[in-house]
Amino acid sequence: MSTVRVIPHHIAIVMDGNGRWANRRFLPRVAGHKQGVNALHRCVKACAERGVKVLTVFAFSSENWDRPAEEVSGLMELLAKALAREVAQLSADGVQIHFVGEREGLSDSLKKGFLQAETTTAHNTRLVFNICFNYGGRWDIAQAAAKLVAKGVPVTASSLDTEMAMAHVPDPDLIIRTGGEQRISNFLLWQAAYSEFYFSDKLWPDFDAAALDEAINEFNRRERRFGKTSEQIQTKVTA
Ligand code: IPE
Ligand code: IPE
Ligand code: MG
Repeated sequence: MSTVRVIPHHIAIVMDGNGRWANRRFLPRVAGHKQGVNALHRCVKACAERGVKVLTVFAFSSENWDRPAEEVSGLMELLAKALAREVAQLSADGVQIHFVGEREGLSDSLKKGFLQAETTTAHNTRLVFNICFNYGGRWDIAQAAAKLVAKGVPVTASSLDTEMAMAHVPDPDLIIRTGGEQRISNFLLWQAAYSEFYFSDKLWPDFDAAALDEAINEFNRRERRFGKTSEQIQTKVTA
């Protein structure tokens, strides 16, 4: 048996726990989101250093609009600022940025920022970085089906695959959720079919490179069978 650590090709993260991080410090929730941006900055760097090829993060769900107006506008502002501040360096580091989710309903300036970030970084190949914003797994499946119907293409599992918002990357190998909750919250419903799940009690602002390594180590202890038997998998590994 090989003891080489396998680095998941695609890691997806539900970055949860910012609000609780702030509450524990008697700070406004937006202060937790601000620390969350710092944690994300560290995480992108750590993933690139470890040779992860695709990182997908859940930044704002279709349902997060129902939060207090002040928190929603705080999140929009934080994202706009992070874009202005970080895109040039991310691009220099070889990161290809994609915004995944519904653009309708977002401000014109944010939409412009998304497009600019995507265009500036399109040629990069070191790490594909998907930011799911105004995203929901149900929205994604419905919009993919609607596109097929509009084209007159029969809806099948493989035709849907080509129209999903993340058709540019393979499905996630490892899905991490921080913050202690063990649920999917409308994240990658379609793409999570055979992903390994890892739940961390750490709040997202506290998630660091060591915590990422723990998740990758746990991933290495899993046997992915994709519906086959363990014996079939073992034979394939040693063949
Ligand atoms: C996740 O942190 C970030 C977003 C949903 C935008 P939360 O804000 O959900 O943090 P908790 O779950 O309230 O601690
Ligand atoms: C999921 O977290 C969404 C993001 C991390 C962006 P939530 O905090 O919104 O999920 P629930 O409401 O606890 O399920
Ligand atoms: Mg939460």
